[in-house]
This record gives sequence, C-alpha cells and structure tokens, in this order.
Amino acid sequence: MADVLKDKIAIVTGGAKGLGAAIAVELDSEGARVVVTDIDGDGAAKTAAELARGESAVCDVRDDAAVEALVADVVARYGTLDIMVANAGIATVTPFTEMTMEIWHSVLAVNLDGVFSSVRHAGRAMAATGGGSIITMASITGFAGSPLIGHYAAAKAAVISLTKTAAVELRGHGVRVNAICPGFIGTDLVLDRKSQFEEALGIDDFGAVLDQAQGRLGEVGDVAPLAAFLASDRSRFSNGSTFVVDGGMSASLV
Ligand SMILES: NC(=O)c1ccc[n+]([C@@H]2O[C@H](COP(=O)([O-])OP(=O)(O)OC[C@H]3O[C@@H](n4cnc5c(N)ncnc54)[C@H](O)[C@@H]3O)[C@@H](O)[C@H]2O)c1
Repeated sequence: MADVLKDKIAIVTGGAKGLGAAIAVELDSEGARVVVTDIDGDGAAKTAAELARGESAVCDVRDDAAVEALVADVVARYGTLDIMVANAGIATVTPFTEMTMEIWHSVLAVNLDGVFSSVRHAGRAMAATGGGSIITMASITGFAGSPLIGHYAAAKAAVISLTKTAAVELRGHGVRVNAICPGFIGTDLVLDRKSQFEEALGIDDFGAVLDQAQGRLGEVGDVAPLAAFLASDRSRFSNGSTFVVDGGMSASLV
C-alpha cells in the first residue's frame, strides 16, 4: 500500500510506545496526519517527531472530558476526524482471588472506559462529518480464560462487544468500527511482566511457552499494517469484525 490514507486525519491513543507508536508510524507512512496522544506527553511527542505529518497531545483516556476535548480540537482544526485508533491499555499480573477492587477498576478504567470514551466521541464526530474508521485494540484474551490477567481479559471481551454494537449503530452514518485482537507482542506491556508470569505460573521460561503457542513472540510490525488496512477504504466491507493476529495461538487447543 502507498498513500492509501493520503489527507486522512487520525488520532492514536497510547501512541508513546509499543503498538500505538508503531501504528502511528504506519498510518503516517500511508499519508495520514496523525495526532499521537498518550498520558505520557514526552513519549507522544517523541513518536510524533518521527512522523512526516505528526503532532502530539497529552490525553489520559480515563478522562472522558479530555477525550471529548481532544476530538473536538482535531475536528475544529481540520474539519474532520477520519481515523481513531483506541489503543491505550495497561495490565497487571494478578491472580483472580488476590485481585482487589482497586486493581480491577484501575485496569477497566483504561482498557474499557477509555476505549468507550474514544469510540463514543470519535463516532459522534465522524457521524457528523461524513464518516470514518474506528479501530479498537482488543486482544485474543477477550475470547478465552486468561490466567493472571482476568481484569484485562474481561475488559478486552467487553471491548469486542462494544466494537460490534458501535459498528451496528454507526454504520448508517458511514462509520466503521473494527477490533484488532493480537496475541502476545513484544512490547513493554508483555516484556516487563515476563518474570511475574513465570513466577505466578511456576514456569522457567514464558518465552518458550509463547514460542510453542505462537511460533514466536509477535512484533509490533506484525500488527501495525493491519491497522492501516482497517483505517483505509480497502477494508470498506469490514465492519464490527475482530481481526486476530496471533501466529495461530487461538486456533489451537494444544
Ligand atoms: N503487547 C501485547 O501483547 C498486546 C496484545 C494484545 C493487545 N494489546 C493491547 O495493545 C494496546 C497497546 O499495548 P502495548 O503492548 O503497546 O503496551 P505499551 O505498554 O507498550 O504501551 C501502552 C501505551 O498506553 C499508554 N497509556 C497507559 N495508560 C494510559 C491512559 N490512561 N491514557 C492514555 N495513554 C495511556 C502508555 O503510556 C503507553 O504509551 C493495549 O490496549 C494492549 O492491551 C497488547
């Protein structure tokens, strides 16, 4: 693909690093103007500095008013919002019975409420300005039980559900909403928690487990091109769908 997103205006949440940063780079390489947002303003600015047409803004997706203001600002300046990538997310490694309500809500606040705010405000703006493409960052953990990350997996299952509802409600306005469901990708979200997984699961090498399940640890470059495809009109007949990128992990029971 080349320039398939020419002149499109995009917001990426959680774009300071990891998957969000790679998606921002990918959208930019396809011609989009990308507003890179994150709770980490310095990180977002660093990503934006790598882009041909990038800019950055601080936005905590837990703050619904801040997300609304971000979308309003982009629409006021560019007259449109074509692409929203609701990507920001966090995790803790916590056994279900040890999970406090505080830990539970802290993860749902970002991974579910933050996505809800991003989809809601982007959807409303896109419906008013001629349509667009919204991409939610779910996970294969939304399809199955996921030891030690029950809050995270519950949020991802809910994101898959809200993606479908938003797709159906907004399709009459030219807005498509699709979810990407990665397997385990080598970002800080996973790598920083590797030893915690090993300790809690009583295994020596979480990497070896992933090698068997996925073939290898995923890379951000395995996912980012899919986001560009879903953002573009080339995916125009895809709506309310879940796109799995997991090296076959969820295809197998063993
Ligand atoms: N890495 C994986 O294996 C994997 C797999 C499936 C889904 N995902 C999802 O992909 C998304 C990106 O994850 P990643 O692996 O790149 O993680 P990451 O930790 O590398 O990056 C997450 C980014 O989100 C930002 N962020 C955290 N809280 C925020 C908030 N309240 N408001 C705005 N930004 C916030 C962080 O500052 C960071 O820049 C997440 O939704 C994650 O759940 C990741």
